[in-house]
Amino acid sequence: MNILVTGGAGYIGSHTVIELMAAGHTPVVVDSLVNSSAVSLDRIAVVTGKRPVFHAVDLRDAAALDAVFQCHGIDSVIHFAGHKSIGESVAKPLDYYENNLGSTLTLLRVMEARGCSNLVFSSSATVYGNPERLPVPEDHPIGAVNPYGRTKLFAEGILRDIAASDPSWRIVILRYFNPVGAHPSGLLGEDPAGPPNNLFPCITQYLTGRRPELRVFGTDYPTRDGSGVRDYVHVMDLARGHVAAVEQMGKFSGAVEVNLGTGTGLSVLEVVKGFEVASGKEIVVSREPRRPGDVAECYADTRRAAALLGWTASADLGAMCRDAWNWQLKNPYGYR
Ligand code: NAD
Ligand code: UFG
Repeated sequence: MNILVTGGAGYIGSHTVIELMAAGHTPVVVDSLVNSSAVSLDRIAVVTGKRPVFHAVDLRDAAALDAVFQCHGIDSVIHFAGHKSIGESVAKPLDYYENNLGSTLTLLRVMEARGCSNLVFSSSATVYGNPERLPVPEDHPIGAVNPYGRTKLFAEGILRDIAASDPSWRIVILRYFNPVGAHPSGLLGEDPAGPPNNLFPCITQYLTGRRPELRVFGTDYPTRDGSGVRDYVHVMDLARGHVAAVEQMGKFSGAVEVNLGTGTGLSVLEVVKGFEVASGKEIVVSREPRRPGDVAECYADTRRAAALLGWTASADLGAMCRDAWNWQLKNPYGYR
């Protein structure tokens, strides 16, 4: 299949491009590079032996996007492109609504005009808010507490409306839990533009000396060791989840939501231990108050992913820490 991958130069997109190529598909990458580097595409070439087709296009540019569809005969779309920082979305909500929703609407219009109705969309477990039950199933109530989360909530709603209006649409809404890790080669990984907020890059930057301390936000949660619990999922597993979604899409119609997680929660302190083993270095943590907006515990009910997509995550914490650390060691300043 010819698969348009929007945001394919970014973190999850670039790993997915590799797995699409490994499965025999032809990815066509569209990315404005607003939060990524074309070096990731050069690295894909080193791993796979082939540089993917790339168009430097902002998705909101309908004419340029339409030209990509015309040129390549696109069968399906995986839509990663968007801004993803919660803090930035609070400071610049209009940028988030304009970019995340504008690009999705433009993409849908062009797909409609070109008769392409197969879409995989990047959503987030953020739509579950503070989970009322664990593990979190897809029919859990959804909501949002910040502009970033609302862009996911609104986009999901738009996709469900479109699917209900025309039975030819097949839309898989993937709700990622906590994507982490890197390609096992150490050639591709997460490259945060500014200071990171997520746990994994905070730890790897601490280990290389880029950050003076590692803060643990909250040690009094009602969890097994008092620190927050999340469902960390290896980015290569996530990438294979997208391949499964495009390949299995023919089996159903309409819009379907699917969690991508391991189904297992790990605490911040357990992750810290995992990195001590992976790096052979001791990590001295600074115990801090809870971070505003954080939930105590969140992990996925993964049964739908297994039943509909035939997908389950396989990488364990050891592999996640090893690959994240390998990437950071080989690329202390990311792709720069
Ligand atoms: P990323 O920033 O690395 O990748 C997103 C890519 O989209 C970037 O390469 C960026 O340049 C591109 N982009 C942004 N706006 C664009 C536009 N208007 N036109 C063209 N390209 C544009 O982020 P990621 O971590 O790979 O996330 C991919 C998707 O998954 C995002 O939609 C994100 O919200 C979602 N998601 C990510 C996480 C996570 O923790 N990484 C969790 C849940 C959901
Ligand atoms: N944490 C620390 N120290 C740090 C960074 C994080 O203790 O330096 C803790 C957090 O308090 C939390 C856990 O590590 O308990 C995970 O935090 P992350 O920031 O890595 O991930 P979140 O679960 O907060 O956020 C992620 C994505 C969001 C998404 C959200 C909801 O980054 O995009 O999951 O699913 F919205």
